[in-house]
Amino acid sequence: MAHRVKVSISGGSIEKVAADGIIVNLFEGVRVPGGATGAVDEALGGLLSDAIAMGELKGTLYETRVYPTFGRIPAKRVVVVGLGPSKEFNLLRAERASAAAVRAGARAGLRTLATIVHGAGIGGLDPQKAFAATVRGIYKGLYRFDAYRSGKEERQVEMVEVVERNEEKRELYRHIWPETQAIAEAVAKVRDWVNTPPRDMTPETLEAIARNLAETYGFSLEVIRGEELLERGMEALYGVGKGSQYAPRLIRLSYRGGEGKGLLALVGKGVTFDSGGLSLKTAQGMETMKMDMAGAAAVLGAAQAVGELKPKVSVEFLVAAVENLPGSRSQKPGDIVRVQGGKTVEILNTDAEGRLILADAVAYARSFGASHIVDVATLTGAAVVALGQEASLLLGNDEELLSAVEKAHEAQGERIWRMPSWPEYREYFKSSVADIRNTGKGGAGAIVGGLIIGTFAEDRPWAHIDVAGTVFREEETPYSAPGATGGTTASLVQLVLDWAKGR
Ligand code: BES
Ligand code: MN
Ligand code: ZN
Repeated sequence: MAHRVKVSISGGSIEKVAADGIIVNLFEGVRVPGGATGAVDEALGGLLSDAIAMGELKGTLYETRVYPTFGRIPAKRVVVVGLGPSKEFNLLRAERASAAAVRAGARAGLRTLATIVHGAGIGGLDPQKAFAATVRGIYKGLYRFDAYRSGKEERQVEMVEVVERNEEKRELYRHIWPETQAIAEAVAKVRDWVNTPPRDMTPETLEAIARNLAETYGFSLEVIRGEELLERGMEALYGVGKGSQYAPRLIRLSYRGGEGKGLLALVGKGVTFDSGGLSLKTAQGMETMKMDMAGAAAVLGAAQAVGELKPKVSVEFLVAAVENLPGSRSQKPGDIVRVQGGKTVEILNTDAEGRLILADAVAYARSFGASHIVDVATLTGAAVVALGQEASLLLGNDEELLSAVEKAHEAQGERIWRMPSWPEYREYFKSSVADIRNTGKGGAGAIVGGLIIGTFAEDRPWAHIDVAGTVFREEETPYSAPGATGGTTASLVQLVLDWAKGR
């Protein structure tokens, strides 16, 4: 499970803090460090500038160095993290540098750390945003998933103090602290959920998580399960689950924080394992398909943070939970299903299942009166082809909602990139036997997948976030453990908070 670290804000100068390690930073190409790093360098008798002069310390992006201080300052070690070229510096890099630094501290066996805020001084970032990024980096960097390891990892950072000598800035930091922490904890939880093996993360588990959130935060919970889906006209969601021993289900958590402001629905793709169904994936193609519920996890994580922060706005959290497996009962290419509301879909590829389950979930959101709908899904490999792992892919039918989603990502240092949704693309998924088909014919796979879902939002403001490239990373990076990233959770929370303020 996510390891718990205690993070706090304190005053004073970093070079005077007694901790196992203090964290400072360095831009690439700087010969004599200034600011807090300069103060530490001076207190250490020029140790850092000597290391720079030797070419031992360069400040390249996410490079980390841990030096002993030999009693010259109260801290036993100094951790220096590279920020890369100052021209390329931004919030995302501040967060990742913070993560890389605490990871280096953890590797070195340091238990208590103190850090400066990365980017608030020479970096030129907005201090409050830089602080939030630094804190996100601390939590994200120290995250590990070891619930399934038999050995116990001893090297754990227990405490990180964020040191700021300026009282006004500390006040700004304290102001944003509650949401920063609620978001960080939600992100860690989401990573646990997504990392959990598919044997232990089934549609039943997603329901149990939602039930637990409902009990903890007083949300109302509705679950439409198994055959009940058919009675409610949701053949598309039902159909995807036919090959699984676990009943598919539509899970709905309702938060009521303010009336008369519209009703925002966040809808997550919760495919707890995607084998492709009868249109079976390759062995390699399904190695990471436990992550196909990451959209659902982000929505549930957002629900947790909203439960903690109680913004004055009403939100629906919907999860379409299902396992996509082949079997004698599985749906088949050529099948036609009816989506809630009556439209029919011809299934040509059972591996294009996300759009099917989200069709029912989005249609349902519209039918109960959601005024705005945002779906989050690991929908297409094509989104990864388009943007790699650097950004989520966005499209939709409403400028205001789309820019709100973009703004929320910007604020949380997450990247998202908008694609067009020209009406001509609708030709790509016309069927000869049903209203539409579930796969496209002419490329633009990520757009087509999204627009199929959007068909069921009809004229309701809707946005679609394809997170296939951003929620999971197989390799370890300097700033993160391998596996789930918790991506998009923070931006969803931000969207809700902005929504509450702006309305
Ligand atoms: N869950 C996958 C998409 C995916 C692929 C997510 C790789 C993360 C990494 C989705 O259900 C899928 O299989 N999509 C197909 C659609 C195709 C059959 C039209 C795809 O992208 O190949
Ligand atoms: Mn699939
Ligand atoms: Zn899928």
